[in-house]
Amino acid sequence: MPTRRQLILGTGGILALAAGTLALGAWRSRSGVAPAPPSADLPLPLTAMSWQLTSHLSARVGPGDWVGRPALVFFGFTWCPDVCPTTLMNIAGWLEELGSEADKLTIALISVDSERDTPEVMSEYVAMFDPRILGLTGSPEEIALTAAEFRIRYEKVPRDDGDYTMNHTAGVFLFYPDGRFASIIDFHEDPQFAVPKIKRILA
Ligand code: NI
Repeated sequence: MPTRRQLILGTGGILALAAGTLALGAWRSRSGVAPAPPSADLPLPLTAMSWQLTSHLSARVGPGDWVGRPALVFFGFTWCPDVCPTTLMNIAGWLEELGSEADKLTIALISVDSERDTPEVMSEYVAMFDPRILGLTGSPEEIALTAAEFRIRYEKVPRDDGDYTMNHTAGVFLFYPDGRFASIIDFHEDPQFAVPKIKRILA
């Protein structure tokens, strides 16, 4: 478990991320790199993506496997001190609110931390939140391609103690069953809008 100091540092990172978060999960790094134009931030349709990753059950998964069902996708890493566990707890809450309708969804957490997030680590992690959540990981190259197709940003941030953390785009991407991008549930959005947005991809 992270120490209190790590949690506090982590929260600082989240605040830094939050300050740079614009609509549609736009993201600005601490080095001040300007975000891409908004239109470029939209994820591709799943039907135009080509990534391949490994699931927490060690199966190979690609975007074609998700077409035909509405999908809910977000990026993170298992060592994330705050944003990822909070997002996963929110998702578990939305699934409970949706009841049996939630069984129609594909729900996936895609790791941006190839080094530490093996399929085994992902398996233990997603099981803590909801058994319907699929954990996906891959090689650095596989994750980089996936991130590019979803138009998300991430970076490794070294810490003073020699360890590292990851900055990453927060926000849950929603896709229609035909693979078209539908909308995003932003990390700081009023929670009352989350379930209606999911209902729209389930309709
Ligand atoms: Ni995170």
